[in-house]
Formats: sequence, C-alpha cells, structure tokens
Amino acid sequence: MTDKPNSPEARDIAYHLHPYTNAKKHLEAGPVIIDRGEGVHVYDNNGKQYIEAMAGLWSVGVGFNEKRLVKAATEQMEKLPYYHTFTHKSHGPVIELSEKLIGMAPVPMSKAFFTNSGSEAIDTALKLIWYRSNALGKPEKKKIIVRNRAYHGVTIAGACLTSLPANHKSFDLIVPNVLRMTAPHHWREAMPGESEEEFATRLARELEDTILAEGPETIAAFFGEPVQGAGGVIVPPATYWEKVQAVLNKYDILLVADEVICGFGRTGTMFGSTTYDIKPDIMVMSKQLSSSYLPASALMINDRVFEPIMEESDRIGTLGHGYTASGHPVVAAVALENLKIIEERDLVGNAARMGERLRNGLAELADHPLVGEVRGVGLIAAVELVTDKTNKTALEAPGALGALVNAHLQEAGLISRAMVDAMAFCPPLIISEGEVDDLLARFKSGLDKALAEVPRETLSA
Ligand SMILES: Cc1ncc(COP(=O)(O)O)c(C=O)c1O
Repeated sequence: MTDKPNSPEARDIAYHLHPYTNAKKHLEAGPVIIDRGEGVHVYDNNGKQYIEAMAGLWSVGVGFNEKRLVKAATEQMEKLPYYHTFTHKSHGPVIELSEKLIGMAPVPMSKAFFTNSGSEAIDTALKLIWYRSNALGKPEKKKIIVRNRAYHGVTIAGACLTSLPANHKSFDLIVPNVLRMTAPHHWREAMPGESEEEFATRLARELEDTILAEGPETIAAFFGEPVQGAGGVIVPPATYWEKVQAVLNKYDILLVADEVICGFGRTGTMFGSTTYDIKPDIMVMSKQLSSSYLPASALMINDRVFEPIMEESDRIGTLGHGYTASGHPVVAAVALENLKIIEERDLVGNAARMGERLRNGLAELADHPLVGEVRGVGLIAAVELVTDKTNKTALEAPGALGALVNAHLQEAGLISRAMVDAMAFCPPLIISEGEVDDLLARFKSGLDKALAEVPRETLSA
C-alpha cells in the first residue's frame, strides 16, 4: 500500500467499494492499479508488466489495444451516439448485429435481444421463460435446474441460479424453485473407478430422477455453461451433454446455454455449444462479444421460445421488458467490429492451437507436488492445487493455497485467478506461442516459490 495521502491508491481506498473484494482487507492491502494495456499484457502504474492470463474477466479476446475497436466506437459516436430500441425504434448497428448473431448461431435461432451484462441477459432469459410458460397456459411450469458451482451472474435472479456460496450468503435471495444438480466434475465428484461415461450416465439419471420427483410439468428450463467457468473451469465428462439433452428433450424442458465465457472462440470452436454439440433453445452471450471494450450482452431465442412470447406480448399490448441501453449503437458497432476481427484473423483457430500448447505445458506440471488436476478445453484451463494428492485436499482453509500461489504469480508478472484452490487460465485469443511459453514459465516459477512456503508436513508426496 501507500502512505501518500493523495495517491491514487489512497483515494481508491477512500472512495471506491470494489466488487468481489474483501472490503475490510482492501483498507490495508489497497488496489493494484492497472494503467495501460498492450496485446496480452497490462502494465500497472509503476510500469510493471503482467501477462493478463485471464483476459481481464475471461473477456478481452482481441487483446488490450485494438485500434479498430476504438475507430468503430469513434465513428459511431460521431454519427449516432445513442438511440434506443423501445417502441419499434431501431438503427443500423443493432440490425446488423442481430442479423450477424443469428447467422453465427450453431442451431437455428429466431431473434436476438440485447442487454448490458451477462447477469442482465440471464435475468432476461429467466423472465422470458416464465412469460412463455404463462403464454402457453402452463403457469405451474416455472422451476429451473442448474448445477452446483454454476455461475450465472449476480442480479437477484442471476445470483439465485449461481451456485457458489459467496453469492448467496447474507443476500436474502428470493427466487424460489431452483433445483441444483451435481457439478459435472469427474475428478472431484466421480465414484472410485467410475469412468467419464459412467459418471455422465449417473448425472443424467440424477437429473431424470429429480424431474420425475418434482413433476416434469413443473420444470421450465435447465441453465448450463457448456464449460463451467467461475466455478472452477469444470470441463464436462465425455457424453455428458448428449445424455443431459436426451433427458431434457424427453420431458419438454428448455435448454439455456450460458455462453458468456465460452462464446466466440474460447473453447476452440465458435461456441461452447459447437464444441459439445449442444442444441440450446436460448443462448446467452457477453464478454468476448465486444471483448469487453464496452459492456455488451445478448440472448438469442429460437421460435419455440419466440412464438408464445410474441402472442403474449400481443395479448398484453407490449413486451414489458428492456433496458435504456438495449442494443446501444456504439456497443453494437464495437461488437460487430470485434466479431469481424475474430473471424478475419481466425482467432478461434488460434485459440484451439494455443490452447493445446497451454494445456500440454500445464500437463507437464502434473507431477509437481502442488498440482492435483490439470483440466481445460480450447484456450481455457485450470490447475487444481492440492497439498494431499491422495485425498485431493489443499491447506486447511479452503482458498489459502490458491491465495498463496496467486500472490506469487502476481509477483512473477502473471495475472491468473484463484477459484478457491484452482488457478484459472483464460488468456486473450490473440496469444502467440512465445507468450504461451512465457505464461508457463512464469506459472512454474510462481508455483515453485509457493511450494517453498508450504509446510513440508502438509505435503503428501
Ligand atoms: C457464465 C457466466 N454467466 C454470467 C455471468 C455474468 O456476467 P456479468 O458479470 O457481465 O454480469 C458471468 C460472468 O463472469 C459468467 O461467467
């Protein structure tokens, strides 16, 4: 921290309440102030360089100084800086982006709806699903199924669907009828000797048993991230999505693919739904949609969802939902340019190639005393840290080992993120071979320094 009373650090402590931060600890620790970005790197206000191995918050696909996005924003600002999309109004960029997204969708989709954050898009999906059930004359069809360790945002509805303790504790969340399934994490949740396929079969059976116990007519939708991100980069076991979808189809339950992290190349194909052959009724997108240069999110709905909603809005007189900035023209212009760059530069192919290099490099650390599991797909990966490999446990306090390693990585100039005791890697899609190797070298160095501080007696091997 700083002892200078007027420093940016002191003013941040004085005036800024940070999201996802221990507010009391922040008074002592203060902020890391990021000053500028270039490619996959960011620099703090002391000039220290970091590899941004989380792409910000899983989001800056095209890197931290893409001039084309600046130009797209400037040009749109000069032409039409704002207009809304309520009451039949529209404008060029939102029309173009709607058409573009529907054209990119991996399954037939009907309409795009625009929001500002992943949480708002999830909130909107939930509201549209309930609206649809009422439109169909099925008011009892309202329950939602999610998985443990899911992350679907932090608005009241989003946080209710999220299944991580810190998002629930003390917030008095109020959405009823959310049913939580086992997370599809083979390493952590499988029975001894259970293969990936057997584990997937068991989870599909758990899903079906829950649906039957609750009454299939009461279940509206299943929300799932193709790869669970913030819950620990949980890569589903072989055959999982195929088996889950068979159950959902059998009982006429909508499938919402939360593509907020996976969308636009992260898993090595354009969408997580492409990678896992998921056929969603609703797709939720954000983050790499605009590379987070401006807040953008959207959902796509298919005809099965759109048609009853259309009829209900006609009965009521309007679809009473939308945001002042829904389909904002500057955001839409930036998103369009960002998608153009992702396609022109084959950043999806690059993610697949660099992801393989990253995962192979991480896999070489499997024998490191602190590494329990290395998992990933495309250009998203995690290393689960343990001190006891047999029992798959880390230091006594959950998250303590993650925090220790994270501190050393930051020191080594590598920004990762500790999800309890798993370190996540999700670098910009533009990363090069040399930068992947640099990332791996910094990770290894930080990991070794952390190991030197772990009490010997806590280590199993
Ligand atoms: C899968 C998923 N859904 C929803 C959200 C919420 O997005 P936002 O933080 O923009 O509200 C996130 C954010 O990380 C996410 O990873």
